[in-house]
Amino acid sequence: MILLTGGLGYIGSHAATLLAKQGLDFIILDNLSNSKIDVLTRLEKITGKPIQFIHGDIRDRALLDQLFKNNPIQAVIHFAGLKAVGESMEKPLEYFDCNIHGSITLFEAMAEASIHKLVFSSSATVYGENDNPELVETMPTAMPTNNYGYTKLVIEQMLEKLAIANSRWSIAILRYFNPIGAHPSGLIGEDPQGIPNNLLPFVAKVATGELPILNVFGDDYPTPDGTAIRDYIHVMDLVDGHIKALDYIQNKSGCFIWNLGTGKGSSVLEIIENFEKVTGQKVPYQIAPRRAGDITACWANPEKSKHELDWQAHFSLEQMIEDLWRWTMPNKKEERI
Ligand code: NAD
Ligand code: UFG
Repeated sequence: MILLTGGLGYIGSHAATLLAKQGLDFIILDNLSNSKIDVLTRLEKITGKPIQFIHGDIRDRALLDQLFKNNPIQAVIHFAGLKAVGESMEKPLEYFDCNIHGSITLFEAMAEASIHKLVFSSSATVYGENDNPELVETMPTAMPTNNYGYTKLVIEQMLEKLAIANSRWSIAILRYFNPIGAHPSGLIGEDPQGIPNNLLPFVAKVATGELPILNVFGDDYPTPDGTAIRDYIHVMDLVDGHIKALDYIQNKSGCFIWNLGTGKGSSVLEIIENFEKVTGQKVPYQIAPRRAGDITACWANPEKSKHELDWQAHFSLEQMIEDLWRWTMPNKKEERI
């Protein structure tokens, strides 16, 4: 059995659909700080199976001990954490507590219960800004410009030291690029509270008329059209990488790092153009100043994941947008309310 921390969130819920599809047994632990309980019902609808769920916090050591005692858990996929870059600058201690203290509590409880297989959600943000935008796992990490990214770097470093100290640990660190899209059923997807920070959820809200206009943060970057470039990856491709990584570490000891990205970058203007083409909706936008902390361009070098995990992204940008749009369309939204 696998424990999914944060399994009702955006990426964790998509991972749950894939685990269920592959007949893998799992249990979800989530404190619902950034997700809604109705995701559980939706997961049950998609999978056709009851889903085991515990409402609780990764910082609750007694709860974790009980959970590990009562369930035959062999591995943990650790999605739980706070992820808003801007908020992390306003509330650093909340981020250190939830992400770093929460992870330490989880790892301690795992060690105590003799569970040493772990897949951790990290981020390409740990690479910082590089002269070469194609990011490879062998590149050195850099101090991220925001507190959220800092928590990811700290946890990565702790995990590497943990694996050196005790060879029983088998750890997969997955560096996500920019996950977008939704489950093809349209039943689950990213559901940000309030005004979205990320590009695609914002674009979708402008297309539905919920927000008036998109600010394109900077058109003076040294890129072909002047706007920043990122590697957008379908969330279903991303979660497939977790299952492959878990499989890889089954009989291995140590700490392994893999990029999860497509290897292809798209600019903000290319995203808008593709979104309009796929959905037939206009996305009004205006050029705004650069957003503090943003880098010019990055995309994954996915070769290591391809060779070692036999994993690669399959969904096209058009499919990512189609699935996001199916999830965003007003009829689906009304169903959620
Ligand atoms: P999300 O906020 O949708 O999901 C996280 C889930 O964890 C939520 O359901 C939330 O309620 C839960 N949670 C938060 N703190 C918790 C705690 N202390 N105890 C128990 N549950 C808790 O975020 P997501 O996009 O699904 O991201 C999942 C992971 O991937 C996070 O660690 C995030 O930092 C990382 N990540 C996300 C992105 C992205 O763009 N979405 C990029 C890189 C890395
Ligand atoms: N952008 C806009 N307008 C918006 C929102 C975003 O122009 O309203 C631009 C940004 O400036 C950036 C691009 O769209 O150039 C993508 O921005 P996102 O916020 O969607 O994604 P980021 O690459 O900035 O951040 C993501 C994750 C973070 C993670 C980071 C680095 O959201 O959690 O990648 O891996 F830290």
